[in-house]
Amino acid sequence: MSDLLLVLGNPIKHSKSPLIHNYWLKKYKINAKYNKKCVKKDELKKYVDLVKQGKLKGCNITVPYKKDFFDLVDKVDTHAQSSLAINTIFTENEKVIGTNTDGLGFVSSLVDDLNYDLRSSLNIFCFGAGGASYGIISELLKYKPNSVEVSNRTHFSTLNLVKHFCKEKDLYKKIIKPIPWGENPKEHIDLVINTTTCGMNETDEFPIEFNELSKETFVYDIIYSPKETILMKKARLNNLRTSNGIYMLIRQAAVSFEKWFKINLNNDDINEVIRLLGYDH
Ligand code: ATR
Repeated sequence: MSDLLLVLGNPIKHSKSPLIHNYWLKKYKINAKYNKKCVKKDELKKYVDLVKQGKLKGCNITVPYKKDFFDLVDKVDTHAQSSLAINTIFTENEKVIGTNTDGLGFVSSLVDDLNYDLRSSLNIFCFGAGGASYGIISELLKYKPNSVEVSNRTHFSTLNLVKHFCKEKDLYKKIIKPIPWGENPKEHIDLVINTTTCGMNETDEFPIEFNELSKETFVYDIIYSPKETILMKKARLNNLRTSNGIYMLIRQAAVSFEKWFKINLNNDDINEVIRLLGYDH
């Protein structure tokens, strides 16, 4: 009998995860199928039980349930702890583990796909203090940045994010800096990341300009639809290098796939999915 994997969320119609995972399952001749499932909150425990019983190989978790699995799984790994979110569950020694693959997916896309030199002492500017920013910042901190400036529309959430990381390490107080929403990133910034959902709708407005940045600054928007986001357009006006979030989407999926099947996916596997999703031009 074939294994089953699910992505759980609500709504779930637009998820690209089945396309991505079923491509790799077929390519590696794994007898398994990956489906999407729209679920209610009171059903979540049932899916953890199915994973524990081996009736499901694993699950991805998406909006709005990424915070709801902490009390349901047997163990939460460090990635999930520092990102305060679980997007993947899998079994290890008969225990159900909750992890978060967003941060690793982000870093892998930056280094392996976009050839960015993620050296130490970088000055990073992050728009957003929501779910996605925690996972991304927690991984970036491992590369010993000089500063991580965080700017979010609701400033209270920025302060909560700073508090969360400073609880982990006192040293982060000197590195993570809250910036008021609307303030432009300045010349010393090497890497700008948008982790907000601002720009997914055509009518969204981003009250930011990039004319103070140096020509070497890289602007990474984790939104992948539209392909050229508002922030990328603004960056293009200043001739800056940019990327949308398609590589992060695929790399975070690849980390989940590796958890379930112990297969390390290579650059060809990633680029084939880029083509499959129509992002190769
Ligand atoms: P995710 O898990 O995708 O990060 P989230 O936790 O709901 O989703 O976070 C959404 C982020 O996008 C938040 O930083 C949110 O800012 P607020 O904390 O002020 O809500 C940000 N965001 C969403 N729409 C926005 C908009 N139109 N302008 C600016 N920021 C926006």
